Amino acid sequence: MAFDTELLRGGAGFIDGEFVPLAEARIPILDWGFLRSDATYDVVHVWKGSFFRLEDHLDRFEKNMKELQLSSPLDRDQVRETLMKLVAKSGLKDSYVEMICTRGTAPIGSRDPRACENRFYAFAAPFMFIANEDQRARGLRMVVSERPRIAKESVDPTIKNYHWMDLTAALFEAYDQDAETAVLSDGNGNLTEGPGFNVFVIKNGAAATPDSGVLEGITRRTAMDLFELEGIPCVARIVRIDELRDADEIFITSTGGGLMPVSQIDGKPVGIGRPGPITSKLSKLYWSKQEAGWHSTAVDYDAP
Ligand SMILES: Cc1ncc(COP(=O)(O)O)c(C=O)c1O
Repeated sequence: MAFDTELLRGGAGFIDGEFVPLAEARIPILDWGFLRSDATYDVVHVWKGSFFRLEDHLDRFEKNMKELQLSSPLDRDQVRETLMKLVAKSGLKDSYVEMICTRGTAPIGSRDPRACENRFYAFAAPFMFIANEDQRARGLRMVVSERPRIAKESVDPTIKNYHWMDLTAALFEAYDQDAETAVLSDGNGNLTEGPGFNVFVIKNGAAATPDSGVLEGITRRTAMDLFELEGIPCVARIVRIDELRDADEIFITSTGGGLMPVSQIDGKPVGIGRPGPITSKLSKLYWSKQEAGWHSTAVDYDAP
């Protein structure tokens, strides 16, 4: 069924080759993406009418599909064009744009992933921040989860995936402790990441972020670029959980909100208990540079 363009305003999905209103976007129940989390996805954002680092997100999506032996029915150019159309049709100037490739459905009776017909889905929703306005202003209250991140040897975290049970359980742990988010260790006292974000610690003017056991976030890469531009040392290396408790500043990075401060860890203040000066400076730069056209690809809203 073709939908009137007006119905796509405010959010649109792309299912089975058709553009549909976001609320109408449904997947088949037999898709292994749903039944087995057998899928990979990527999220790129649009800010003030332009995609940010679109080609970097497409690179990661392509690489991840290859690693999972998935092949999208749409090639890279068609994916790019579909994302453009989704945003144009939705009319959203600030948008959270997700592309997904699932294993798809197997012939009835088959349990062979090679027999599945892989599928491509996408949607453009209003932009969402992991941390709300108040949390971004005062910093997030974070806990270190008791539960380690699923072993990287079992589920490769560099492939963006829907194996979120450890991350979601960590969030519930945080809520039980009157906190708002959580980070997970690797089970050996090393920091990994949290539900939907990478983590940076700053001590004595130098920054670090875990070098393994994490998704290589595009916002993480952007934060590292910003550190370099500002001449502030930043390295990817093993980060011990103890370093969180001793940090001057902590921030998280995600396409869902950029660089966002953490002001409390396990109930204790981080530094002075407020967003630190380096975090605030880089966070402002993150948005101002995008608005000035850095790594941006404009959406043509007149050609949906
Ligand atoms: C587990 C995990 N780590 C890190 C990130 C941050 O990645 P990016 O900066 O590419 O959004 C995400 C994003 O959803 C994520 O799910």
